[in-house]
Formats: sequence, C-alpha cells, structure tokens
Amino acid sequence: VSERTELLDGTSIPKVGLGSLRLGPDETDATVKAALRSGYRLIDTASVYGNEAAIGRAVRESGIDRDEVFLTTKVWNGDHGYQPTIDAFEASRARLGVDRVDLYLIHWPVAPVERMLESWSALIELRKRGDVRAIGVSNFMVKHLRAVVENFDEVPVVNQIECHPLFQQPELEAYQREHGIVTQAWAPLGKGRVLEHPTVAALSAKHGVGAAQVVLNWHLARGRIVIPKSTNAERIAQNIDLDFEMPEADLAAVDAMNEDLRLGSHPDAPPTNALPEQ
Ligand code: A2P
Repeated sequence: VSERTELLDGTSIPKVGLGSLRLGPDETDATVKAALRSGYRLIDTASVYGNEAAIGRAVRESGIDRDEVFLTTKVWNGDHGYQPTIDAFEASRARLGVDRVDLYLIHWPVAPVERMLESWSALIELRKRGDVRAIGVSNFMVKHLRAVVENFDEVPVVNQIECHPLFQQPELEAYQREHGIVTQAWAPLGKGRVLEHPTVAALSAKHGVGAAQVVLNWHLARGRIVIPKSTNAERIAQNIDLDFEMPEADLAAVDAMNEDLRLGSHPDAPPTNALPEQ
C-alpha cells in the first residue's frame, strides 16, 4: 500500500513505514534501501537508535526525491526541557543531513510533567519555524496526553505506541480518536510473537497471505498506521503488500486476541539505558 493518512494538521503520512530500532551501522544502509525499493516512503528513527546519519545517507543515495520520503525522529529522555529539545533537534537534523524533519516526536513521557510540557512547547516552536512538518509524541498514556491537551491549543497529531494483537490499549485509542490523534503502532507484529498465534495462522491460510500481512492489514483496517521492522528484503516487501480485504468477522477475531500483554517498557518507567526496550 502506498496510501497515506491525513493528520490533524493537514500533513499526510504514509500508512506503512520502516521501523529502525536496533538497525546497526552495517545493516542500516541495505535495509533502508531495500525498503525504499519496495515502495516504503516512511523511515522511522530516533536519536537514541544511533543510525540517523546512516539513514539520511541511504535516503540520499537511493536517488528518490527528498520530498517523497517521510522521515521521523525523536527527542531522547535526557534532552527534555525547552532549549535541550531545540538543541537535540538540531543535532538530529544535522545527522540526518536534511533541512526539515517530517515528524518529530517526544520519545517517552518523562517526569516531571512540567519539563515534558516545555519540550512540547519547543516542538511547537520548531513546527512554526518550518523546521519540522508535524509534531507528535510516543509512548504517551491518557494522563500524559491529557496534560498536553489541557495546556496547549496544539495537540500531538500522532502517538506512536506499542500496539499489536496481544496489546491493543483500547481506552488509549478511544481517547486518541476523540482528539483526532492517529495511532502509529510500534512492534505492530508483537516483535514477531503474534505470527504463530492460531487465529493469525488460520486467517493467513484463509486469505493466502503471510501471517505478518494479516496482522498489518488488521492494523490498517482499524485506522492505525504501522512501522514494522525487518532486515530481510523479502519480508520487508511483504510487509507493505497489504492490498487485500478481510471481512469484519476476521478483523474481530484479531481484536479478540488482546491479552493486555505489554512487551516493551512501561511509560511510567521509561528506559534509561542507551536503547529503549521496544
Ligand atoms: P526479521 O528481521 O528476521 O524479518 P515488530 O515490528 O513487531 O517489532 O516485529 C519485528 C520482528 O518480526 C523481527 O524479529 C522480524 O524478523 C519479524 N518479522 C518482520 N516481518 C516479518 C514477516 N513478514 N514475516 C515473519 N517475520 C517477520
């Protein structure tokens, strides 16, 4: 699918992108280029991933117009506050080697809330300057979103959260829907753990598609956008080949897989190590 979703601010974002957590220096180049060749037009990174420079270079070397590729990056937990966030952004922009970042996110909600709100005001400033096209958050729970909504006119257009059949966060999604905040699912395949689930296996056989395609198609049908990770060219291609329709009963069967099973870090205990547990 090369379709895009319109965000609250009028920006349009590709529905499928490549997640790049743990893509090391030697695999980033080939993986990003494979994704671009397969039709991906969104690459998701973060300052903490350590691969922004390699991603920026791979995009330039692909020969695809910069304007056609949507780049997301994120401010890390140690860089909260107004000026630290501006400085962290400038460093990310320089590493990516771009004039403008398409989507800039607060990577994790951090305490105290006042500092996080200062970071949000820095993101608004970056958006107003035109250095960033759209601004959002990641790993926010309802209480964190509420703090932003109550203190600012400008709300995040995206919340990038852990979301997969085993961990669906229905209350959070309901709140987001109410405010027009799009859910971007990280670990949309539950880090690969949902692929052998009997429900997914049955739907995969029924529709003649791979297990990952069933799960990603379900996310899109439920109005989310996704950033699956893979370093394998065939699986990368499979994960954006989602033009088939599943009837409501099949989608509901995937809904019924929810176990409220979080696989990554809890937002109230954001990772402090170099790499987030995503
Ligand atoms: P690999 O890199 O070997 O393809 P998530 O995006 O939920 O974090 O899941 C990522 C995991 O799922 C990785 O281990 C990845 O392994 C695996 N994966 C990604 N796409 C597919 C696919 N189409 N089929 C099977 N496994 C996949």
